[in-house]
Amino acid sequence: MRVLVIGSGYVGLVAAAGFADSGHHVIGVDVDAAKIEKLRKGISPIYEPGLDELLHKYQTSGALSFTLDLREGIAEADAAFICVGTPQSEDGSADLQYVLAVAEDLANAMAFRAKDAKPLIVVDKSTVPVGTAARVHATIAAKTDRTFEVVSNPEFLREGCAIDDFLFPDRVVVGCRTDFAESVMKELYTKKLAAAQARNPENGRWFRMDPPSAELTKYAANAMLALRISFINEIARLCEEVGADIDFVKVGIGSDHRIGKHFLNPGPGFGGSCFPKDLQALLKAAREHGHPLMTLATTVEANRHQKQVLALKVRGHYACKPGTPAPLAGKRFALWGLAFKAHTDDIREAMALELIESLSTLGAEIVAHDFEAMPNVKAKIGDKIRYADDPLVACEGADAVIIATEWPAYQKVNLEAVAAKLKAKVMFDGRNLFRPETMQAKGWTYHSIGRTTVVG
Ligand SMILES: NC(=O)c1ccc[n+]([C@@H]2O[C@H](COP(=O)([O-])OP(=O)(O)OC[C@H]3O[C@@H](n4cnc5c(N)ncnc54)[C@H](O)[C@@H]3O)[C@@H](O)[C@H]2O)c1
Repeated sequence: MRVLVIGSGYVGLVAAAGFADSGHHVIGVDVDAAKIEKLRKGISPIYEPGLDELLHKYQTSGALSFTLDLREGIAEADAAFICVGTPQSEDGSADLQYVLAVAEDLANAMAFRAKDAKPLIVVDKSTVPVGTAARVHATIAAKTDRTFEVVSNPEFLREGCAIDDFLFPDRVVVGCRTDFAESVMKELYTKKLAAAQARNPENGRWFRMDPPSAELTKYAANAMLALRISFINEIARLCEEVGADIDFVKVGIGSDHRIGKHFLNPGPGFGGSCFPKDLQALLKAAREHGHPLMTLATTVEANRHQKQVLALKVRGHYACKPGTPAPLAGKRFALWGLAFKAHTDDIREAMALELIESLSTLGAEIVAHDFEAMPNVKAKIGDKIRYADDPLVACEGADAVIIATEWPAYQKVNLEAVAAKLKAKVMFDGRNLFRPETMQAKGWTYHSIGRTTVVG
């Protein structure tokens, strides 16, 4: 099949490479000339494990190319995937300007299709509110007499393992109105569904539904996952108060097959490019329909508190008195991890950015390290903090080390070497990478999430 993938970001690039990997002919489109220039030179503008290799393989074979002009591929395309951003508007709703701009571009380009061409399947892959497929349809229909159908196909990939998620999906949700649209979508996904089923017969499931249900499925899925995170974070707080250990509690509840073990890891609050904005968009939509989502509102509120948890632990440790100006003046912290989670360079709504803001306001100096996200943070906040190319170098002369992102390599850093660089053996671990009793035995004062603080 011939596919246009419009928007070459985290989702669009993975989708473009993933469809090429299934034997389809793909043209990736973006309005960002610098991005397209980079891609044409074989350089990925984002970090996603395994993406570079796929981009290189299929650009070399000719199955994948990139352009600034979607008219290049519109005449022969079977499907056009809309993968542009849907950021949060000021009022909390999803900002659809980019999606609707693409709909306009498609509407204008439809004239390049033959009058007797098969209907173009326009696919909303961006996360969009209920009713967007209908809006995209109306936008295109206003300008063309060529046939097309708008389908909702929400994306469930996770940054950091996006290639695997896309090539071996646990499920594919398709909101469409006709068998023709479903048949095109099925052909696009057949190989991936088979590959996923071969790995695990429970996976690779296909769900056809109406477009509004597909649109809502995506938001409801993110809301449920966020709810689990906020729930376990609250239980973790209670663990600290009552002397329980969240590592035991989460295994105890997660082994109940009705609950399951996923998304029960406590941490410093969720961030990223999806949950924060998607939750706000869902809350806004529900309010507009006179049906406020109370559990979701509480989830968001709990997360707002949780994003302060590391700063609060730091303040507590150094006995910062409320109202004292710059109580952390003269203190320096090594901050390990800037990305909103491991295996990505994405810093959208990253907890580390809030922590930097809080600690800087309290007068602290920060030397940060991340394996992939430092260029993005430098571009955003510049020299507000210092940067180190190595986690050990970040610790040089620091009062303590703070872990904000769960990069597995931090677990392997030699703690004795870390201690030798620090002024004191103090760690604030927002990702529970170590066990408290081990740290205590090594002489550390170790703060973590949902376990009692130990003093070495
Ligand atoms: N990132 C994720 O993990 C993830 C997962 C599932 C769903 N989603 C959803 O997918 C969508 C895309 O997310 P993302 O993280 O890939 O965004 P992104 O910001 O990384 O990429 C969006 C791309 O679209 C391009 N673009 C904007 N307007 C355009 C236009 N008119 N024509 C062509 N290109 C245009 C931008 O230049 C950018 O490269 C969002 O709705 C998001 O909520 C994201």
